Amino acid sequence: MTLLISLAYLVAAVLFILGLKQLSSPKGARNGNFTAAAGMVIALGATVPLLHFTTAGAVIVAVGIVIGAVIGTFGARMVHMTAIPQMVALFNGVGGGAAALVAVAELLHFGVHPSFSLVLPSVLSIVIGSISFAGSMVAFAKLQELMTGTPITYPGQQVVNGLLAAAIIGFAIAVLAIASIPFSFISLMVLALILGVAFVLPIGGADMPVVISLLNACTGLAVAASGFTLNNFALIVAGTLVGASGSLLTKLMSDAMGRSLANVLFGAFGQVQHAATAAAGAAGRSVRSASAEDLGTLLAYSQRVIIVPGYGLAVAQAQHAARELADVLEKRGVEVEYAIHPVAGRMPGHMNVLLAEANVPYEQLKEMDQVNDDFKNADVALIVGANDVVNPAARSTPGSPIYGMPILNADQAKNIIFMKRSMRPGFAGIDNELMFGPKTLMFFGDAKDSLTKLVSAVKAA
Ligand code: TAP
Repeated sequence: MTLLISLAYLVAAVLFILGLKQLSSPKGARNGNFTAAAGMVIALGATVPLLHFTTAGAVIVAVGIVIGAVIGTFGARMVHMTAIPQMVALFNGVGGGAAALVAVAELLHFGVHPSFSLVLPSVLSIVIGSISFAGSMVAFAKLQELMTGTPITYPGQQVVNGLLAAAIIGFAIAVLAIASIPFSFISLMVLALILGVAFVLPIGGADMPVVISLLNACTGLAVAASGFTLNNFALIVAGTLVGASGSLLTKLMSDAMGRSLANVLFGAFGQVQHAATAAAGAAGRSVRSASAEDLGTLLAYSQRVIIVPGYGLAVAQAQHAARELADVLEKRGVEVEYAIHPVAGRMPGHMNVLLAEANVPYEQLKEMDQVNDDFKNADVALIVGANDVVNPAARSTPGSPIYGMPILNADQAKNIIFMKRSMRPGFAGIDNELMFGPKTLMFFGDAKDSLTKLVSAVKAA
């Protein structure tokens, strides 16, 4: 029996790894999810024979599974694409909280002097899992606009956070070295919860995706620690995979934004945009705007068009309209590609997911490095609800918050059509010189409406 369970865990671990591998391309992502989910079902199935339930215990677990499955299924099916980051925060947070509670339950179970090999992972699980739970809940509240998204700061904040961390280390040592009494490890949990809140409060709402990715990695580590507490191989493997991939994702996201992780966490950057900041620096300067008919003619008689999607495409849910425009252009012999910046939108892979939803062929989606040399040969760069990812200040303005961030070379195209609703800045809150450039034509309006107008204009051209 033990051998069978070990084999089942091994199969589950292999499926988790294969699932992760498939997730690295949009083509395999859907299957990757199914593969990893199959691994989880096998791991759960193999765990049941290990449990020694009382009838009441079995009923509680069954009710828990049903409630969790119902909430998870409905939540995931009903959530809008733009709200995925907060859903991930919520799911990630409960994972961390569960790991911490499992560790508390184990410590309560084993009494005052459990073995060091049990108490060490339990302490790690309580601390990391609680920080992850509380931090994720604040991230959720910020993204859901249940609280302000602007960084909440006060003088001496880092000192207070440092003191909290020191107190946590003190209690952890007490639990490890002296005695594992409920007062000590429940205090540890409460302090870690407070630190989780305090750690995320000073970070701006728009930086939450990076924070969530980091907390996700923490949840993975907390789960892996729970695996050591429970002596469960599947939990150790699954938790370590989440911890490692979450850490890599966090690094990739920070790099793609041209910022260090420390700057994201402690830089109080990425404040939520307010209309009041609109065009502060752009006041008094004029831009050239064009009619749908003029732009339709320009597009229809182009040879090569590169569409640059951004956050506004997601807000407007304009992915289907973008696809329709690409289709009518291709029918006229125009070559169309999509230039995908790694941090376009507000979550990793945001543009890939949106465009996949509209069945845009994968071959047309070009990563930044693949497409950047093509812009100089493009007749039109069609910027749809993107801003920071094409802002030349990233190359030319030292001191700009996005200086050093790699950008798409949209400015090198022969013509640039810039589609947005107003002169408001993007996420970084800075003006974009590209809007004032001699090759740029602005087309103001909601991205979906504007694209629909362009489709008609191209058809009529
Ligand atoms: P942004 O720079 O945020 O610009 C989006 C633009 O879309 C805005 O200028 C906005 O202008 C326009 N817009 C909003 N709603 C629209 C609508 N309904 N129709 C048409 N336009 C609309 O977006 P980006 O270029 O995609 O850059 C992403 C930014 O987010 C980067 O700075 C990146 O570092 C940051 N970020 C990304 C991530 C990930 S993982 N993707 C995570 C955290 C932060 P109007 O209001 O004038 O319409």
